[in-house]
Amino acid sequence: MITKDTIQHKFQSIFHSTPLVVRSPGRINIIGEHTDYNGGFVLPAAIDKAVYVAVSKRSDLRICLYAEDYQERYEVELSERAPTEKHWPNYILGVVDQLVQRGHVVEGFNLYIDGDIPLGAGLSSSAAVECATTLALNELFALDIPRLEIPKIGQLAEHTYAGVKCGIMDQFASTFGKKDHVIKLDCRSLEFEYVPLKLDGYTIVLFNSNVKHSLASTAYNTRREQCEQAVEWIRVNHPEVDSLRDANVAMLDAYVKERDIEVYTKARFVVEEIERLQLACKSLQEGDIPLLGRYMFDTHDGLSKAYEVSCPELDFLVDIVRPLPQVLGSRMMGGGFGGCTINIVESAYVDELVRLISDQYVKQFGKDVTVIKVQTADGTSTI
Ligand code: GLA
Repeated sequence: MITKDTIQHKFQSIFHSTPLVVRSPGRINIIGEHTDYNGGFVLPAAIDKAVYVAVSKRSDLRICLYAEDYQERYEVELSERAPTEKHWPNYILGVVDQLVQRGHVVEGFNLYIDGDIPLGAGLSSSAAVECATTLALNELFALDIPRLEIPKIGQLAEHTYAGVKCGIMDQFASTFGKKDHVIKLDCRSLEFEYVPLKLDGYTIVLFNSNVKHSLASTAYNTRREQCEQAVEWIRVNHPEVDSLRDANVAMLDAYVKERDIEVYTKARFVVEEIERLQLACKSLQEGDIPLLGRYMFDTHDGLSKAYEVSCPELDFLVDIVRPLPQVLGSRMMGGGFGGCTINIVESAYVDELVRLISDQYVKQFGKDVTVIKVQTADGTSTI
């Protein structure tokens, strides 16, 4: 288990100084997928799996990094920072770059990183790294960054250094998560409310397909461009429409459908998903978990058939639980092309379900499914 002590100890042995330590969690998302970069709503929660970042100052202007997962060091002069071929330093260097661009005085530092968020599972380990790094450097150099800026800095780091034009959901959930709650976030205004996650007798179970989303960033950016294209066409007649949040199906029918059916299908999914989130959130607030579950299945079908960001493994994991009365809802979660499904399962049935799914999955795909049980947790903080 990772604790403050184990982190400090390891840091000491690598960098010979005592660090300050920040924890930033991964996230799940109940519903509202691919809506964040369209100005819509999302319903994520931070989880009890996190990234830990430990930092200390240096007397020179070097950035010295060590990643426990890769047992690897990376060093660069602050002034020479740039996106690297190596993946993992980018999330940290991207944050440094954002801070410097905003006029903050950042000096040399040592940074050690460890965590227990499964990588490539769609639980936003990269957003957690960005948010942890932002808070750690904020504390180390007394930058006085308002909390609401943390997710924005993380998101831009991802755009510029990782090349993924992501929305703000992951970084926001990691920063603002609250135990036993989901966040209903308006991604246009960044206003949010905490909604209690009361599932009475049901448990959230994640099935990791163990398909790593390799081509995902290109496809993700393409989806985003398709959504922006739809908005551009609508705006010719409705200049008040800034994002798909302001659009409706009638507008898509009138100005997009005949021009490009693919753009239409993608944009229509987003418009419907933004609407669906409102209904799903209401059902959660009213304790109608079976209804919430049905919306989750609808979301999956949209993501798979219309938005086309699923894969055979994820579809299989959803289809296999669909007829089971003990599973209220299931869908692929996050950007897509791999990662996990999120399931709402009768608590007493979880063990049996895990056996069933594990058996069937290995038979079908010749590889294992991994079960991840998660609890909700608080957001980014020093520990
Ligand atoms: C990824 C992105 C998020 C969001 C989801 C899809 O996790 O980082 O911003 O767009 O995909 O909902």
